[in-house]
Amino acid sequence: MHTLDEVNKEKLPKHIAIIMDGNGRWAKQRGKLRVFGHENGVEAVRNTVENCAKLQIQCLTLYAFSTENWNRPKVEVQTLMKLLVASLRKELETLNKNNIKLKAIGKIDTLPQKAQKELSEVISKTSKNTGMILTLALSYGSRDEIKSAVKEISIKVKNNIISPENIDETVINTHLYTHFLPDVDLLIRTSGEHRISNFLLWQIAYAELYFIDVFWPDFREHHLVEAILSYQNRERRFGKTSEQLT
Ligand code: IPE
Ligand code: IPE
Ligand code: MG
Repeated sequence: MHTLDEVNKEKLPKHIAIIMDGNGRWAKQRGKLRVFGHENGVEAVRNTVENCAKLQIQCLTLYAFSTENWNRPKVEVQTLMKLLVASLRKELETLNKNNIKLKAIGKIDTLPQKAQKELSEVISKTSKNTGMILTLALSYGSRDEIKSAVKEISIKVKNNIISPENIDETVINTHLYTHFLPDVDLLIRTSGEHRISNFLLWQIAYAELYFIDVFWPDFREHHLVEAILSYQNRERRFGKTSEQLT
């Protein structure tokens, strides 16, 4: 089984993003309710955050709840929100101990009041940390994010703050929820599904994709290392030829 010490520290992805999928199926396999899967997913989050921090990954972004996930049964949504509040409360100390700065992206104002309050508290209490940036995507949808950016930029154009000819990729980047993050280098999705599900469409333009056939609650150190090793063995050409890279 792979361990963290196999990772080449000179070639780390700066920004890892994870679509944490398969909680429901993990529970179903065990004859339990879907929420049991979510409860057990928390340990995989803790484990992955800790391992990324140990590796000194600069940015880790976790897809925790999508704009589309609001359409799930009410009890499931409620449980996910309760789990969020409980985990934030519980993990504050560990985040500080590991020098991790918490951030959130998405339509945060659509979350229940309690979740918003807990979230902003942990964000402010970890804001001085200088290590890994841990970003939770909550009520996040990439199309919604792009729509909001277009709206904001349009208003600025209308008010003569930006002129249309000056709209470039940097301007667009600065109006996305992720303005404080670099592009994604490595995108991991668990559960065997090979899709993006409205996650960071703009930011993954040149990300390396890694799909793994493991349900999220089972995701551990050796899976993370496997993904990073795969990333480190790939040639990222960004449109150039192989010869141009050396
Ligand atoms: C991921 O697991 C967690 C969230 C989307 C919140 P799922 O709940 O999607 O589990 P599956 O994919 O149905 O097994
Ligand atoms: C994507 O998983 C969202 C999160 C992991 C939070 P889903 O389970 O919602 O995605 P689909 O519906 O299978 O595409
Ligand atoms: Mg799913």
